[in-house]
Amino acid sequence: MDLGLTNKRVLVTGGNSGLGAAIAKAFAAEDARVAINYLVNPRQADIFVEEVTVAGGEALQLRADISDPEAVEAMFKAIDDAWGGIDILVNNAGIDGERALGWEADTDAWSKVVDVNLKGTYLCAREALRRMVAQRSGVVLNTTSVHQVIAWAGYSAYTASKAGVSMMSKSLAQEAAPHGVRVLCIAPGAIRTPINRAVWRDAEGYRDLLTKIPLRRIGEPEDVANIAIMLASDAASYVTATTIFVDGGMTDYPSFAHGG
Ligand code: BGC
Repeated sequence: MDLGLTNKRVLVTGGNSGLGAAIAKAFAAEDARVAINYLVNPRQADIFVEEVTVAGGEALQLRADISDPEAVEAMFKAIDDAWGGIDILVNNAGIDGERALGWEADTDAWSKVVDVNLKGTYLCAREALRRMVAQRSGVVLNTTSVHQVIAWAGYSAYTASKAGVSMMSKSLAQEAAPHGVRVLCIAPGAIRTPINRAVWRDAEGYRDLLTKIPLRRIGEPEDVANIAIMLASDAASYVTATTIFVDGGMTDYPSFAHGG
């Protein structure tokens, strides 16, 4: 299926690792022009740009802390300078923070999670929407998590930030829809990436994780990337203001398969 993404101008935040890297690759494979934002691990960003360029495509790497408004403005300016604007923003960058019970959490550590995940997503969405509304086309795809609806002890900042992004996205979608712009969320479950390596590398942690997934396997980054490119394409032109869960059924309360 041709998704019609050829030459589309795409920005994937946190595009040098985990889900972001898989999503950036998937867009590049569709011949889109792909800018990846990163903060650490510049080597991974170099490699992505090299690979795309060698394959005859166009790619950019942009270092910016997405929780810093000025850095975000400069990043979008750099995309304007290179490509004259943006068609698709994938807000992927995020952190889960150190596990800490709410009454024990450090204020700065708690705020940092919200700053990156919620404020950072907003700042990038704002810059993208300024351009998309003016050109009357575009898609903002925000990465949330099953934890926008599933509580997670020890991660009150993370869950709050993801639930926040989901509701913010609905409001932004309402604002942008009359201008031909879509805003929606993709909510991954447990996907094999560095963010949860400690769990899937540990035999007991892995066994426990599988009990939470009706499809009885951990997701691969490509499971999310395949849906991300589809949602960003015109194949999904009637989809906005909602969340698509890519979670192997994690949000289906698997513990209720028996008893109750
Ligand atoms: C977290 C992962 C976790 C998954 C399922 C994601 O949002 O980043 O660490 O494995 O949710 O609990």
